[in-house]
Amino acid sequence: MTARYKDETVARVRDASDIVQVVSEYVQLKKVGNRFVGLCPFHSERTPSFSVSKDRQLFYCFGCHAGGNVFSFVMRIEGLTFPEAVERLAARAGLDISSDLETEEDRAARERRQRAFEANQLAMAYYCHVLNRSTSAQARAARDYLLGRGIDRAVAERFNIGLTPAGWDGLVKALSAKGISRETLVECGLALVDDGSGRIFDRFRNRVMFPIINVWGRVIGFGGRSYDGTNPKYLNSPESLVFSKRRNLYGLNLAADSIKSSGRAILVEGYIDVVSLMKAGVPNVVATLGTALTVEQARLIARYASELVLFYDGDDAGFAATAKAVEVAQSVGLAVRVAPLPGGHDPDSFARQEGPEAVKALLDDAEPFASYRIRRILQGTDLSSIESRVKAADQVAETLASVSDDVERAEYLREVCEKLGVDPQVLSAAVRRLVAAARDRQRVPSVRLKREAFRPVDSSPLASKAYFEVERWLLLLALTDAEAAARIADAVGENPLSTSPNAKLMDIVLQARSEGKHIDAASLVDAAGPELAGYVSELVGSEDAFDLDEGAVDRALDLLRRRRMQVRLAEIDAEIKQAESAGAVERIKALLKEQVELRQALGRDIALY
Ligand code: UTP
Ligand code: MN
Repeated sequence: MTARYKDETVARVRDASDIVQVVSEYVQLKKVGNRFVGLCPFHSERTPSFSVSKDRQLFYCFGCHAGGNVFSFVMRIEGLTFPEAVERLAARAGLDISSDLETEEDRAARERRQRAFEANQLAMAYYCHVLNRSTSAQARAARDYLLGRGIDRAVAERFNIGLTPAGWDGLVKALSAKGISRETLVECGLALVDDGSGRIFDRFRNRVMFPIINVWGRVIGFGGRSYDGTNPKYLNSPESLVFSKRRNLYGLNLAADSIKSSGRAILVEGYIDVVSLMKAGVPNVVATLGTALTVEQARLIARYASELVLFYDGDDAGFAATAKAVEVAQSVGLAVRVAPLPGGHDPDSFARQEGPEAVKALLDDAEPFASYRIRRILQGTDLSSIESRVKAADQVAETLASVSDDVERAEYLREVCEKLGVDPQVLSAAVRRLVAAARDRQRVPSVRLKREAFRPVDSSPLASKAYFEVERWLLLLALTDAEAAARIADAVGENPLSTSPNAKLMDIVLQARSEGKHIDAASLVDAAGPELAGYVSELVGSEDAFDLDEGAVDRALDLLRRRRMQVRLAEIDAEIKQAESAGAVERIKALLKEQVELRQALGRDIALY
């Protein structure tokens, strides 16, 4: 049984486990100033960049950015789950926590999930048995279909591919005989209830079944493909207490290790694409589950990889899906590359027609999305038409606005201006306007943040970095002082912070404060979850850079207000342009009025931006 401990228990164990002592049991630490430093146990290094703060009860590695509290450390170094780490440290501290387990309600929910996993597992075994063993004409047809798609017995077994019989209740009967209840079958979407008779029958009939298995090896759902032309082509398990299409990826159970070791994941759109690519020797491939890439899926990938290669169809629909996925993936800090397929191909058809070498070549040549998009724009431009060139320049400006690296951007700009015959000054001004307009909407990676990336650069027009810093300042103030937190809560109430890690952490801090709970850096790490542990540690570790004395709250809030006005001003610029081209006179007037008011309110500060 996996234990779950109450928050108070977790806090009690944390208080009893000094991080410096615990870490010292694994790493030789030396005191330097008010920190302890040593060689990082999570990556290999010769000069120490691993630092532990006794005051804060946090650790952080400046080399690999691992960070967190004492639980994060033990989980990571011992490969334990959270409750296991709690138990380990409780035992070390001589605390008895055996009676502090989860509530009745928690247990009931967990057991329901357990039963759903079990039913899915048994269903998978049943479907595999039908595919491999059945002598029916139907099973023979399904096997032939799979063979025709390059999926032989060995491949089918590796992916646990199966078959549902054509009848109405083959699965219901088989699983009922194994003691699976009617409620469980319905709850995990394997069976449907007949309104008339109240009896249950199989949801999936006469389909080739692809089990969807999570990273822990649990069968959470199925995708069922018709192989005789019946519609829909795929029927998927419904959302259930164990299955969420938004939060899982097909193939991750098989791909996770190689994604982790290569730091790179390949993303495709179809189940069969995963099967086919793995067969062609690409081990680090996963697929979405019939929806566009979600933020949750991107975060899941970012837990294992720093780079994502999108391997989508080369047609217009594929390009649109790619563009959307790029944005989502970048928002969680993944570096994104694109490996476009030739038109008419999906990864499976390409791999089967062109072979593993060709697949490898395409993936090796994957290029940054911006460069790919610019290439496409240029290809579609008629250089003899001014109109076509103007349109292309607009599209290029939009693309360049999303490139954050200045050097990279300048490089593209030079190239494109030459090809399109555009004055570089003009195009780069357009890019700057777009950047300014986008800055408030800009999302900030929630993982693998490097502080250097966000330090305001004096000469930079990117106020977003400065904006981000104000948010960090407010967060530290709210964490340090209950009174400050109350005032910040009032000020941000209407207008929550805009950048994801800060906004999420601020929510946690303010929520805890409003409930009168004590919250410090170490408990924030637990509340924020493993993804943000490093970020919190780094933030708290850099508090020297922020002014936290009396009066700081006023100054920080004032600065936030000003930053918001500056962001709005930048938006107005863009909106005026739009209104001008739409000929919306009233709108322009209103915008100009707002602009004047904002400029007056900001006074001399406009120059800052
Ligand atoms: P595709 O239509 O590209 O199918 O859908 P595919 O994966 O290439 O499959 P084959 O090669 O025709 O057999 C891509 C993905 O979209 C989801 C599935 O997850 C599928 O793998 N999908 C598609 C559905 O959920 N339902 C559908 O009816 C079709
Ligand atoms: Mn296909």
